[in-house]
Amino acid sequence: AILIIDFGSQVTQLIARRVREVGVYCEIHPFQSAAVAFERLKPKGVIFSGGPASVTTAGSPRAPQAVFDAGVPILAICYGQQTLATQLGGKVEGGHAAEFGRADVEILEASPLFDGFWEPGKRYPVWMSHGDRVTQLPAGFKVVGTSENAPFAIAVNEERRYYTTMFHPEVVHTPDGGKLLKNFVQKIVGIESDWTMAAYRAEMIEKIRKQVGKGRVLCGLSGGVDSSVAAVLIHEAIGDQLTCVFVDHGLMRAGEADQVVGLFREHYNIPLVHVDASERFLGELAGVTDPEVKRKTIGRLFIEVFEEEARKIGGAEFLAQGTLYPDVIESVSFSGGPSVTIKSHHNVGGLPERMNMKLVEPLRELFKDEVRALGRELGLTEAFVARHPFPGPGLAIRIPGEITREKLDTLRAADAIYLDEIRKAGLYDKIWQAFAVLLPVRTVGVMGDGRTYDSVCGLRAVTSVDGMTADFFPFDMNFLGRAATRIINEVKGINRVVYDVTSKPPGTIEWE
Ligand code: XMP
Repeated sequence: AILIIDFGSQVTQLIARRVREVGVYCEIHPFQSAAVAFERLKPKGVIFSGGPASVTTAGSPRAPQAVFDAGVPILAICYGQQTLATQLGGKVEGGHAAEFGRADVEILEASPLFDGFWEPGKRYPVWMSHGDRVTQLPAGFKVVGTSENAPFAIAVNEERRYYTTMFHPEVVHTPDGGKLLKNFVQKIVGIESDWTMAAYRAEMIEKIRKQVGKGRVLCGLSGGVDSSVAAVLIHEAIGDQLTCVFVDHGLMRAGEADQVVGLFREHYNIPLVHVDASERFLGELAGVTDPEVKRKTIGRLFIEVFEEEARKIGGAEFLAQGTLYPDVIESVSFSGGPSVTIKSHHNVGGLPERMNMKLVEPLRELFKDEVRALGRELGLTEAFVARHPFPGPGLAIRIPGEITREKLDTLRAADAIYLDEIRKAGLYDKIWQAFAVLLPVRTVGVMGDGRTYDSVCGLRAVTSVDGMTADFFPFDMNFLGRAATRIINEVKGINRVVYDVTSKPPGTIEWE
């Protein structure tokens, strides 16, 4: 196995993902508990993540000494490089030009780390994100790659098999980063593939059984990929101890509630309760305009409904959700690292502080495409597996400002037309997620011989691998024109359509 020590970077999980892509088992542990994890896991190799702290600050995170004493290979990234250098007697200083974004690294000497794809004397793009930098290497280290602002972009001690990079090989913006991690795992540590989705499935089933025991589990089903996969996985683990609840909060898309319940009842023999809670959700959301208040209100109401349903079936100690890793990292400070809250995804940061049920979240470490692979492994139909993601708070976060039934109806109609056009154009599977947004803005138009003063509809479509970053989808202008014309002609209350060409970052995928 590989142990990944987390120093709080926003992208630590991407390291795990790259290691899993090579088919190798790994675990992430925060630096505070890394010593215990190292002892238990007995990993053949260790990776230090990046992190937001500065090693020059007193009390900043360090790696456990045991990792150095054990003589296992180490790959240390960014903050990891700095703490490794400090702990082995080198020097790190702040006050240099901070560097964020693309840089070119020039290879000075060959190394097994990039053997097969990077050659001495050539330059390759990498992704940097740092303030401090190493100014003096520990004894036994040499520089094998350098960049303009990072003289020690790649520093290694081949004898001890310590490899350090100032840049982030785990992000897609370092195009060869995956290969670099693969080399570390396969060539340097020497683990061939030992891990598959089938193994993950078996491991999770064991974990769920252990966590739940003889308890009862209620699973919130939204019809999306995540909760469907979570439900089927948990059902495989504990059978009849599971009951699924589909809460219709009145914020679903056109026809979605019936579609989801129908599909699930048709394919799976899992008890499913359909709760119509739309009055309650829309009632409590009346007058609410702040996005975080919306999210938190919805999170609280979900839990209230789940707790009521739990009582109806004679009590359930556990609530299962299809929470994914991007929900976790953007919502809370994860595993001790002070990462920043971007938005309170309802099933994580949106949850009330006081909750009677314990959470079962078997997908918490996975990215969407990994969940899809797990879904296929579990034999889920493509109808579930290939669906675009749909956020728990539903259309509430696609109507900036106050939510009303009338606005919801308008948005549903526009959204249905947009998706219909996307399907007709054969683009659905090329797009990560596409949806309409109803803006709280009215503009003047002319239709027939009359003046209109109606709402603006925003269209959004993005491509993405995991939802962490995204690019707007480059539709053909004729397509956009067609969709816009239909929406304006067929939907009362909309007289203007705009297309969102923002990528993530700096935008997020949803508008709230
Ligand atoms: P953002 O808008 O943060 O979205 O770029 C990333 C992905 O997450 C979905 N999303 C959510 N999913 N509960 C969910 O289950 C939420 O509260 C939530 N907010 C955003 C979003 O649709 C996109 O796929």
